[in-house]
Amino acid sequence: MAKGIATGLAKAARYPLYVVQIFTGAKSFRDNPILGSTVLNRLGLHVLRLVTAAGMAKFRYLCLSRLLSTEERRTYNENGFLLIENFLPQDSFDSLNAEVRAMQDVEVRQCVQGDTLTQRVLLNDEVLKNAPQCKQLLCKPEFQNRMKYTSAKNSSPIYYIQNIKSNAVDADADPQRHLHSDTFHATMKSWLFLDDVGDHNGPFTYVKGSHKLTIKRLKWEYQKSIEGSSQSNSYSSRGSLRVADEELEGMGMPAPQSFRVPANTLVIADTHGFHRRGAASEKSSRMEIWAFSRTNPFSPLPGFNMQWYNKLSHTVIDKYLKRQDRKAEQKGLLASWHLVDYKEMFTNEATSPKQKKQPANAEVA
Ligand SMILES: [Fe+2]
Repeated sequence: MAKGIATGLAKAARYPLYVVQIFTGAKSFRDNPILGSTVLNRLGLHVLRLVTAAGMAKFRYLCLSRLLSTEERRTYNENGFLLIENFLPQDSFDSLNAEVRAMQDVEVRQCVQGDTLTQRVLLNDEVLKNAPQCKQLLCKPEFQNRMKYTSAKNSSPIYYIQNIKSNAVDADADPQRHLHSDTFHATMKSWLFLDDVGDHNGPFTYVKGSHKLTIKRLKWEYQKSIEGSSQSNSYSSRGSLRVADEELEGMGMPAPQSFRVPANTLVIADTHGFHRRGAASEKSSRMEIWAFSRTNPFSPLPGFNMQWYNKLSHTVIDKYLKRQDRKAEQKGLLASWHLVDYKEMFTNEATSPKQKKQPANAEVA
């Protein structure tokens, strides 16, 4: 009885935090009983968050409109993505590509999702000190300005070198191959591909215009929010909604398009729109400079460009990952994003992860 009361009090003590989370990017129906409340979502809580966040994002885009040409702004706002081939001059691209492939002794973290390995190196000051070509790219105004505008945020995203190894492990299909929206608000991811991308290595796939909040999309979101934490797909119940082909048609959206593009193509997408990692026809890999950015979706202003904030973000990420390592170690497991030898990333051989076990629902942001 006393134990029951203690548990009840502990649950009640968390409610102020759940309330605060309504005004943040928190998205999980399952982990927050307010966001997942059927009654509140029937009354329109989820839809209200979507509409408010979209309004705020529009204002932030407007504040940053000087960073992008009118044509690119129109394209991004209309389609939900930008695709720029031959982004870097060929000699700069070749130098960047060579520098990345020759990296040694950097901290590589790996996530296993189904049959796919995602490997990443965080581009922090320590790595950039020995990677002048990467640094040059990140400092390039044509790159930075595009990143900031599409992030609707006046500071740099988090950058990684990323390698996607498809069909690398004998396991179920990669859950990232299912069309989904990352979250309920505008959010940016980008890829500067260092490899040619085609059906062999799983092209990024996007539903053009699916980032827009149409009435049909809002109705679909409303329905999903009522299902909330009871949705059978665990990613959906955690706020990263999966969508079926027939649901796309019902929302009047076009068929997904795959970006089969040559190396040196920059793709930037609003991953509130529906997207997926395309299927790879063979054991293959795809190396890229990858970025993602999220901000408080309810912030009306894009903020300031503060270097210290980027450094702080890198420190927070590092501390978080190390804490996850320790927690997993205590349970005799590997963390979702666990350390691997750098040679496992910077070779073209797909490797078998030396894993014991790991959570099946590891999220690839
Ligand atoms: Fe995604």
